[in-house]
Amino acid sequence: MNSCMSAYKISSNVYWVGAIDWNIRDFHGYKTARGSTYNAYLITGSKNILIDTVKRPFYDEMIARISSVILPENIDYIISNHAEMDHSGSLDLAIKECSPSKVYVSTMGKKALKAHFHDRIDFSIFEEVSGKSLDIDEAHFDFVETRMLHWPDSMMSYYRNEGILFSQDGFGMHLASSERFFDELDPSLLYEEASRYYANILLPFSPVVDKQVNSLVGLNLDIKIIAPDHGPIIRRSLDIQTVISNYLKWAKQIPVSKAVVVYDTMWQSTETMARAIVDGICSKGVKVVSIKMKSSHRSDLAAEILESGALVVGSPTINRNIYPTIADGMCYLKGLAPKNKLAYSFGSYGWSGEAVGILGGYFDEMRLDKKEGLKVNYVPTTQDLIKCFDYGVSIGNDILGRIEN
Ligand code: FEO
Repeated sequence: MNSCMSAYKISSNVYWVGAIDWNIRDFHGYKTARGSTYNAYLITGSKNILIDTVKRPFYDEMIARISSVILPENIDYIISNHAEMDHSGSLDLAIKECSPSKVYVSTMGKKALKAHFHDRIDFSIFEEVSGKSLDIDEAHFDFVETRMLHWPDSMMSYYRNEGILFSQDGFGMHLASSERFFDELDPSLLYEEASRYYANILLPFSPVVDKQVNSLVGLNLDIKIIAPDHGPIIRRSLDIQTVISNYLKWAKQIPVSKAVVVYDTMWQSTETMARAIVDGICSKGVKVVSIKMKSSHRSDLAAEILESGALVVGSPTINRNIYPTIADGMCYLKGLAPKNKLAYSFGSYGWSGEAVGILGGYFDEMRLDKKEGLKVNYVPTTQDLIKCFDYGVSIGNDILGRIEN
């Protein structure tokens, strides 16, 4: 065990005892360019309580950090806010080593953990607490049910003594850093990574997020610290208000004056079309982000689409289908179920030209506001590129019309 690893004090008797995964670059298909953290927390007092654990390979790191404060066997209780394995993956090891007298979970959490650990955990010590307030000796908790934010088992635990909301995945981000607090980091980096996290993890659950976060706000908890399971801990009142209002904004998916033009290309014809379309949109003063899928990642596309008013997808027809990288991007986006987007398609073709129709089929399945697509045979002429530019102008006008209304 690495004994140089220490806990990090976040309030009078609460410590961060998690792990930093500096080099993870793929989190179940989501590109985590800046790594991540798995945050576990230790509350000390007449009873010692561990909140969440870490991904299994980082178990020793968590134990080393706990050991810098108390002996792990002196942990009396564990609270498991979320069953996904980046937080529960070492729960069986922690139970074995710490022998807690109880593990507090949500009702769905107990079911999910049973389906993960089967007979490797003695579930008779589990107590279902979601939606309840409970005094654990001198520690007072409100367990807030946050089902589908973002798994059925998800709950948040509010520690009344210190005003700390242990928010599991909510309000977190994939960001490895030596700093533990939100206010120690660059605000633009935080916005980028928090919105990227929302787009890639929480977007499909936006209607539930809206409801759950509004319910949380309605509880009028005196939140002094938000301690999520990933990324930095939020302690400044203004930052707490900002992250909550960002969630309410993203959950509503209110479009801004922005288009995402995503494409791939075989012989540069669709790329040439994309460049003319981008110019047309720009000419209306609408922000554009252009993504060539061959040199980008699906999670970059998801991040850019979050606040955009239009999704513009270009693919050549290849073997009566869309280009494979575009299929990857569309499959991923379909699962994330973005809303409130105008949707456009374009592409070059040789003889059959199915790509634009296939993209239109994706838009229908995603229930986006589909507009007519644009095709060019083989290589675009100057006249074709003027049509592409004009197509971009009409996209810009549509976005401005949508925003103004
Ligand atoms: Fe960070 Fe849903 O696990």
